[in-house]
Amino acid sequence: MMPNDATYERLHARLAAAKQEHVLRFWHALSTSERMRLAAQVEQVDPALVAQLYAKRDAAQDFRALAARAEGPPAFRLGDDRPVISREAAQRRGAEALAAGKVGAILVAGGQGSRLGFEHAKGMFPIGPVSGHSLFQILFEKLLATRRRYGAAIPLYVMTSDATHDETAAYLAEHDYFGLPAADVRLFKQGNLPAVDAATGQLLLEQRGSLALSPDGHGGMLQALVASGSLADMQARGLAQLFYFQVDNPLVVMCDPTFIGYHLASGSEMSTQVVAKTAPDDRVGNVVSIDGKVQIIEYSDLPSECAARRNADGALALWAGSIAVHVFDTAFLARVAGTPEGLPYHVARKAAAYIDAEGNRVEPQGDEKNAIKFERFIFDLLPAARKSIVMEVDVAEAFAPVKNADGPAKDSPTTVKRQMVALHRRWLEAAGASVAADADVEIRPTFALDAEEAARRVSLPLEVQTATLFE
Ligand code: UTP
Repeated sequence: MMPNDATYERLHARLAAAKQEHVLRFWHALSTSERMRLAAQVEQVDPALVAQLYAKRDAAQDFRALAARAEGPPAFRLGDDRPVISREAAQRRGAEALAAGKVGAILVAGGQGSRLGFEHAKGMFPIGPVSGHSLFQILFEKLLATRRRYGAAIPLYVMTSDATHDETAAYLAEHDYFGLPAADVRLFKQGNLPAVDAATGQLLLEQRGSLALSPDGHGGMLQALVASGSLADMQARGLAQLFYFQVDNPLVVMCDPTFIGYHLASGSEMSTQVVAKTAPDDRVGNVVSIDGKVQIIEYSDLPSECAARRNADGALALWAGSIAVHVFDTAFLARVAGTPEGLPYHVARKAAAYIDAEGNRVEPQGDEKNAIKFERFIFDLLPAARKSIVMEVDVAEAFAPVKNADGPAKDSPTTVKRQMVALHRRWLEAAGASVAADADVEIRPTFALDAEEAARRVSLPLEVQTATLFE
């Protein structure tokens, strides 16, 4: 199909209604393929929505008032000696659901990974401290070992974006999905949202023939699950729960049966794993309870005096930091996907290069944040859940996200590898092995998924002197 004058007229009419027709400024100088791409991008954008979001950009929620009413969430905490549901009972319940094939898994891997600065999709980043295996390989092998343990299929849904899709699809196919049956791995793409000029609300061009678009946030998952037919696929497969995890945490306890069991036994519709914050200003989403509803307040939105509040025993009142691991009921997702208001949009001010009216590329100066981007967050679904529970996990055993490039910042490849080695060392030592202080160790998920399995698999006596991969 040749994008002709009729296409131009159609796009022009769509954009002019919201005074955004400037993005067609270079149309007549574009090649056929550039026109087709721009036309497809413009069709994806809802100019009326963009105008509405821009108009409301400063109408931030009053987090001070909200946070003043926030309390710590009701939670299954570590070391709780009188839990309503025992860990053992929860674990059994979760294991039964897994063995019955009622649980699927969803991995969100559509982010641009800008802080890490890796030139490929983040999932391809080599993180195995000894093996050099990628995040995708470690996560897929964890799921493979979990399937074997419970003797059941656990279909995996992987969310990608324009930023990551092609490379991810090719990489996973080339590696035969790291042992998972291809029929049980389904990729689906999230949508995009355009960046606008912070001063005017005008759509930005990244090139003469291309809008500045970025993935619409992990909250884009809800819409994309429906649009791609993935939610229908889950329902057709009889999956009642979905274990949600993110691509950057190689320590995730895959399909944690205790977590799934607490979720089921509590009648929760959406559950969240948390760690106990060590300082008021820890950079994690704060899981709180407001008027009896569990919700998350981002660290950047939590006023410092609220973050610093302490209980009589000296513990932080708002103690629970989200590690972005959830269990969803698929019926809950289907219900909320059908509600018109959907998830709210968050505003982020960012620096973005763009093409000006004369066709020149303009780089933002200094720390100028010239653009506004919009994003949706999946955790904003929490208040819509009729019941929502929280489970505390030990950070050393369950959470090490790769966020930043190596350097002074935390959550970098070096700190994550160190944490992986420390955990696997503890498993080996608990099994009776001795590991030299300077020896890196790594346990492949298909060798052991946890300390108990590691203890069954190693043969003693065992002395580890140099870097070793247990596989
Ligand atoms: P982050 O919010 O940490 O973003 O994503 P990121 O893209 O990895 O990194 P930065 O902020 O650009 O440096 C947390 C998880 O959510 C996914 C990411 O792939 C990661 O698994 N995500 C994020 C999406 O799937 N889509 C998005 O639009 C954003």
